[in-house]
Amino acid sequence: QSIQWYPGHMAKTKRKIEQDLKLVDAVAELVDARVPVSSRNPLLATLIENKPRIILLNKSDMADAAETARWIAAYKQEGAWALAVDCKSGKGVNGFVPLVREALKDRIAQWEAKGMAGRAIRIMVVGIPNVGKSSLINKLTRGGKAEVEDRPGVTRQNRWFRVGKGMDLLDTPGVLWPKFEDPIAGERLAFTGAVRDDILDVEWLAMRLLELLAAEYPQVLRQRYKFEELPQPLEGAALLELVGRKRGMLVSGGEVDTLRAATMLLDEFRAGKLGRITLEKAGR
Ligand code: G4P
Repeated sequence: QSIQWYPGHMAKTKRKIEQDLKLVDAVAELVDARVPVSSRNPLLATLIENKPRIILLNKSDMADAAETARWIAAYKQEGAWALAVDCKSGKGVNGFVPLVREALKDRIAQWEAKGMAGRAIRIMVVGIPNVGKSSLINKLTRGGKAEVEDRPGVTRQNRWFRVGKGMDLLDTPGVLWPKFEDPIAGERLAFTGAVRDDILDVEWLAMRLLELLAAEYPQVLRQRYKFEELPQPLEGAALLELVGRKRGMLVSGGEVDTLRAATMLLDEFRAGKLGRITLEKAGR
């Protein structure tokens, strides 16, 4: 992603979201199930205010299923609706329309009482870059992209898509900025590949990820990289060295090619090859 966020850009996006919110009945927010905190836009909750919020924990195929279930329970407790999805394969996506109907059942009952039973539900899809918005819209419209023209708020930028019966989706190119001002969040987003890592040190990033994995998912290191024992203390440089050694990534003289090992580790994590991992736990 090559989006550069600067203050003027953020203010403009915020205004656009405020305008677009007036056009919809509810907001569907995509988050990355592996990092549900860091992948949320810091301002969005305050902008949405009174509209029902449906949180889609996407990329759940790569997240720890037990942790995803805990997140869903936590969101429900704070009054949002939540669903685990995998917008790449489409798993879970057919739960979206029924969940939206449930979230809006009082509104729908009001419309019916007013003789507006045919009124389409209008939903706005938001999320930080790379979280899977295009994939979701693609699955919901079955790749058909049934565009709707006769809707308020249709502009060159805003596009509406018909999703099944009686539901229209607002696809707004106004993507949200991530929580990058928080260094921990920035780091976790970089692990997932959601922010560009050409400005970050790949070896440092891999070492930080290994420290997290050694503490929370040691079995992953045992299985994927055949660690017999974890080096003590659990320190990034030693962990990275061991990963490289186990994979035979040596340079002449028998030293480990740590850059190559780091790049491989990050690629494998981003592709979900290390197993199902959640780096941010509900309630912690
Ligand atoms: P965006 O519109 O929010 O920017 O995201 P987009 O749908 O383009 O998805 C970004 C990347 O994440 C894509 O991978 C997409 O395939 C992948 N993705 C989206 N949802 C899921 C999911 O639930 N699980 C997994 N495993 N991946 C998901 P890409 O590498 O850019 O493209 P490609 O691999 O599809 O070719």
